[in-house]
Amino acid sequence: MPFDRSIKIAPSILAADFANFGAECAAVEAQGADWVHVDVMDGHFVPNITFGPATCAAIRPHIKGVMDVHLMIAPVDPYIDAFADAGADVITAHLEAGPHIHRTLQAIRGAGAKAGLALNPGTGLGDVGHLLDMVDLVCVMTVNPGFGGQKFLDMSAKIRDLRAMIGDRPIHIEIDGGVTPQTAPLVAKAGADVLVAGSAVFKGGSVADPAPYGANIAAIRAAAEAATGVMA
Ligand code: DX5
Ligand code: ZN
Repeated sequence: MPFDRSIKIAPSILAADFANFGAECAAVEAQGADWVHVDVMDGHFVPNITFGPATCAAIRPHIKGVMDVHLMIAPVDPYIDAFADAGADVITAHLEAGPHIHRTLQAIRGAGAKAGLALNPGTGLGDVGHLLDMVDLVCVMTVNPGFGGQKFLDMSAKIRDLRAMIGDRPIHIEIDGGVTPQTAPLVAKAGADVLVAGSAVFKGGSVADPAPYGANIAAIRAAAEAATGVMA
């Protein structure tokens, strides 16, 4: 089977109703989400606090597809098993989170999850090349991590270079932050296949009225696919 590089939309539940996460996850999946993106923040690596492994375990039964856990925490290693046990399919750690990213990526795969490597906007690709055989996903941040609803930072050149470095390897390029129908074509054209979107997906809808979720997801997907000419 060729590696699936078709466009995938991963709503970030950071923009969902925190009091109703389970139903929100089920609602966005029913409205066309491919993955569900879960932002874990510790108030140390980033200036915000969200939730931990217990919340991931609580929402897991409500997610039929991929639970994509983005760890904005430091240190990472002491918590990998807890997120794997919570049912995370993908566990992404930041290259900037500590001096031992090689050990961290080994530990994520050792815990049975797919390993993701995230890069802040200020971080280049210099330290990525020799780690590519240890990862299943590279997340290029298009905002400085910590909050939803921020302005998109254009990382097209970094994405293009990364896409060239990856070659035929089965590695997803994920984009996270400020993704909308206006910015999605830029990153898709540069080679990204997983598009995380929080505020652009959850705006205007709710669990009681989820149709806007579906329209928002479809609009981002259509814009990205039009830019690549590849339909799912
Ligand atoms: C930010 C998070 C993102 C964020 C995206 O640190 O990693 O996943 O929730 O939200 P939007 O799409 O609103 O920028
Ligand atoms: Zn994220």
